Amino acid sequence: MHARIVLLPGDGIGPEIVAQAVRVLNAVADRFGHTFELTEQLIGGAAIDATGDPLPADSLAACKSADAILLGAVGGPKWDDPNASVRPEQGLLKIRKELGLFANLRPIKPLDALVDASPLKTHIVHGTDILFVRELTGGVYFGESGRRDGGKTAYQEMVYSEAEVERIVRLAAGLARGRDGRLTSVDKANVLEPSRLWRSVTSRVMKEEFPDVKLEHVLVDAMAMHLLVRPRDFDVVVTGNLFGDILTDEASMLPGSLGLLPSASLGVPRSEGGGPGLFEPIHGSAPDIAGTGKANPLATILCSAMLLRDGLGLPGEATAVERAVHDAVAAGVRTADIAAGGPSVTTVEATDAVLERI
Ligand code: NAD
Ligand code: IPM
Ligand code: MN
Repeated sequence: MHARIVLLPGDGIGPEIVAQAVRVLNAVADRFGHTFELTEQLIGGAAIDATGDPLPADSLAACKSADAILLGAVGGPKWDDPNASVRPEQGLLKIRKELGLFANLRPIKPLDALVDASPLKTHIVHGTDILFVRELTGGVYFGESGRRDGGKTAYQEMVYSEAEVERIVRLAAGLARGRDGRLTSVDKANVLEPSRLWRSVTSRVMKEEFPDVKLEHVLVDAMAMHLLVRPRDFDVVVTGNLFGDILTDEASMLPGSLGLLPSASLGVPRSEGGGPGLFEPIHGSAPDIAGTGKANPLATILCSAMLLRDGLGLPGEATAVERAVHDAVAAGVRTADIAAGGPSVTTVEATDAVLERI
């Protein structure tokens, strides 16, 4: 296959980890006889520094015509002034919106070899297999915002439409059907009006279209607790943009590190006229360890596996990458974030260990 992949390294550890995923993609191309045409584009703080715009028109155009996109991370202290007129994170929100990537899939499946990396007890973590489906182009992230009272009061609306809830619930329920047939919808319907709409639309769609999938509604505050006590009870979890953001960083402590979690941001499938998928680790630019060689590249390498499977339709290649990651970890390869104080390897050495096993 010939595929065009746009790389968006971004800021902080972004370029370090994307470079490692590129090594993996090149190895897959070699080994399986594909040609991957990789081109780098600017996003985030790096793009602000070069052009003043966190998502320059060239970057967006290249992404729109790509087969798949791999992102590192954006943001950092250099661009964090609360009064700045432009922010790196705006570039990421814009690309998600422009490409219609309304569904962010975040699988949480702790590796057996790594149960010790989790701060939680092994008997709680063991056997967990959750797929979070985070709504990605709506909610409070995209609500009207501003200041009033001469700047002394700030607001940001949380908005969800029926159509937005219907499409994310259909996607999540379809995925649950192919797994254990259970869907947990997380909201704050006891307080928030958009959550009440979310809950009633979810109940209706599930009753009418997915009677075979078991639906449970859980309030987000309780969910934050259940995740740490009975994570094995959840199969697919669907939730809004902000709740999904927060709960998945929390859930990263089940596998043991943010540095292990990939995600796929998908929209309307290609076959139905949609654009490419964006594959992005759930962690950020980790400014505290950027440039030290401590970044865990596995989240981004696992993103490249999701890119191969969900973006390019190459499931065998994706599995080869995932297996190599599992084998490397099982052989004791640990970056500092998962070494629990024991010996650790660098970003590049961890990738070497994966490459040896592809
Ligand atoms: P962060 O995810 O960057 O880091 C949180 C903690 O996890 C840090 O201690 C960091 O060292 C650690 N960590 C994260 N990724 C790691 C990895 N691969 N290997 C080892 N350790 C890792 O969150 P933050 O510090 O709150 O945010 C830093 C910046 O990143 C902010 O500007 C934020 O907006 C941005 N951010 C970007 C994205 C994205 O681009 N998708 C996601 C989250 C945060
Ligand atoms: C993520 C990040 C982003 C989000 C930020 C950087 C805009 O935290 O991808 O999880 O909140 O969606
Ligand atoms: Mn986040």
